[in-house]
Amino acid sequence: MGVSWREAKVSDKKYLFEEWWEQCKRTRTMPQHLAEFRWLFDKVAYAEPLRILEIGTEKGGTLFFWSQLLCVVEDSVLVSVDLGDPHTILDLESFPKQPIVIHGNSHDPKVLAQVVKYQPFDFLLIDGDHSYAGVKADYKDYSPLVKPGGLIAFHDIGLVGSVRRFWRQLRGNKQEMCKLMGMGLITK
Ligand SMILES: C[S@@+](CC[C@H](N)C(=O)[O-])C[C@H]1O[C@@H](n2cnc3c(N)ncnc32)[C@H](O)[C@@H]1O
Repeated sequence: MGVSWREAKVSDKKYLFEEWWEQCKRTRTMPQHLAEFRWLFDKVAYAEPLRILEIGTEKGGTLFFWSQLLCVVEDSVLVSVDLGDPHTILDLESFPKQPIVIHGNSHDPKVLAQVVKYQPFDFLLIDGDHSYAGVKADYKDYSPLVKPGGLIAFHDIGLVGSVRRFWRQLRGNKQEMCKLMGMGLITK
């Protein structure tokens, strides 16, 4: 039975981070760098989101954490989009909050139309198409679905290349944590 964020203790959820990390490593590929992802997770948890959207599910590493975070609150919504068929690669039964998994190309207007139904989001993770045009298009199409004051994260801003280039051009209230691949976070 879920409760409101007022009743749920964010500190308790942080405490379980290590446990979830171990569980995640055992059950699926987790492409994130521990320190970078912990940095992001703590900021997202602190913002007490109710609706999370992720572009780029892969094997459900980050999605598993959003599921853990949202399972304690009532009326939360978790949406993830991927080109691949996530139903064949995710052990969804281990997710405490069942995500809405959309199979398709984030740049396809039909996929965007499906996602729009679940807006507004408190947090968006852009971790799908890593080309310059792809990241730019995901930001243009999906950032309007995030509430004012909401958070938008980009993975791989630290690597030389496309995401880094787009991140550097982006203007606004930006924070970053770069140990390996790099995580960028902008407040809308
Ligand atoms: C780096 S992985 C995501 C990792 C995941 N967020 C995690 O940390 O566990 C990138 C994923 O984005 C997906 N992808 C790439 N281009 C995409 C697009 N245009 N639309 C939707 N998904 C895309 C790929 O299929 C891949 O599974």
